[in-house]
Amino acid sequence: MSVILVTGGTGLVGKAIQHVIETELEGSRFGKKPGETWVFASSKEGDLRDAEQARKLFEKYKPTHVIHLAALVGGLFANMKYKLTFYRDNTLINDNVLYTSHITGVKKLISCLSTCVYPDKVEYPLDETKIHLGLPHESNFGYAHAKRMVDVANHAYKDQFGSNFTSAIPTNIFGPHDNYDLESAHVIPALVHKCYLAKKNGTPFIIGGTGKPLRQFIYSRDLAKLFIWQLREYDDVEPLILSVGEDEEVSIKQVADAIVKALDFKGEYAFDPSRADGQFRKPASNKKLLSLIGDFEFTPFEQALDESVKWFLENYDAARTGKKNVV
Ligand SMILES: NC(=O)c1ccc[n+]([C@@H]2O[C@H](COP(=O)([O-])OP(=O)(O)OC[C@H]3O[C@@H](n4cnc5c(N)ncnc54)[C@H](OP(=O)(O)O)[C@@H]3O)[C@@H](O)[C@H]2O)c1
Repeated sequence: MSVILVTGGTGLVGKAIQHVIETELEGSRFGKKPGETWVFASSKEGDLRDAEQARKLFEKYKPTHVIHLAALVGGLFANMKYKLTFYRDNTLINDNVLYTSHITGVKKLISCLSTCVYPDKVEYPLDETKIHLGLPHESNFGYAHAKRMVDVANHAYKDQFGSNFTSAIPTNIFGPHDNYDLESAHVIPALVHKCYLAKKNGTPFIIGGTGKPLRQFIYSRDLAKLFIWQLREYDDVEPLILSVGEDEEVSIKQVADAIVKALDFKGEYAFDPSRADGQFRKPASNKKLLSLIGDFEFTPFEQALDESVKWFLENYDAARTGKKNVV
């Protein structure tokens, strides 16, 4: 019998794991296995910044396995404005989850990092060996340092206690249940929301920058399958990049085009090159993942985007659009 606790189970990635576990055939590769109980915890069940609340959450569910997603997550603006909050909240959450997993005898723990934690000046493509080779970008150093320390802690737990703790490094994620708050959203949900408002208000859809930068985006439901596979099959402390291939980079213009199409937006649509573009590319290699997982099919980008936009339109009132969100 195993109990898999997903911290941050109500966010973008947590909801995607829940969707996959509940919709894939029971006993299939990514479906629920006999004897498994999955628990998707929100912050309301326990604020993981607080050690006592973390202890109570683990006492309640007695997890044998943990997928640790809970984090304070935000876009560039929020990361720049609240550096200490991003550093401190994430450090506390991670320390409490790792330590509580250790003292309660959790058999396996996967924590979620991000390609944002990589050094600002680094040789591309990113791979699993380069996390600590230099300082992260100044804009998100609070979040990045807090996340990097999880890899340090994983190695220390393994060396001192033999713990089976590891981490996953996804690239940019998007999908149903994303954060669409224009103050803190990542690029895809932010552009979906902006385009939606432009259509509703009859105003132009203007995208900051040239539209030329390239990024690797992973659909949350594909990522969910990779997490489920990693939980069952990958027993190494070294992190694992969970991403589409470098050859599947898409430009911000391709993203915006796909959003315009998915929302059937017919108004004025332009780029504002006076706004900063950010880095042109930040490719990450998924070679290690592919060498281990064997066959895996990623959802084509446009299909994944269509599904995400459809979810947004159907769930606009309940979605995180900023009305009730304060980072
Ligand atoms: N989104 C991306 O593009 C991206 C890219 C790379 C890596 N990641 C990583 O992926 C993981 C999941 O991200 P996401 O996009 O799914 O985030 P998200 O949608 O913002 O969800 C965050 C989750 O964490 C929970 N949480 C936040 N603060 C908490 C606290 N103090 N105690 C307990 N739970 C707390 C939230 O609970 P409530 O719902 O109750 O607030 C929510 O379930 C994170 O570790 C993030 O760093 C994300």
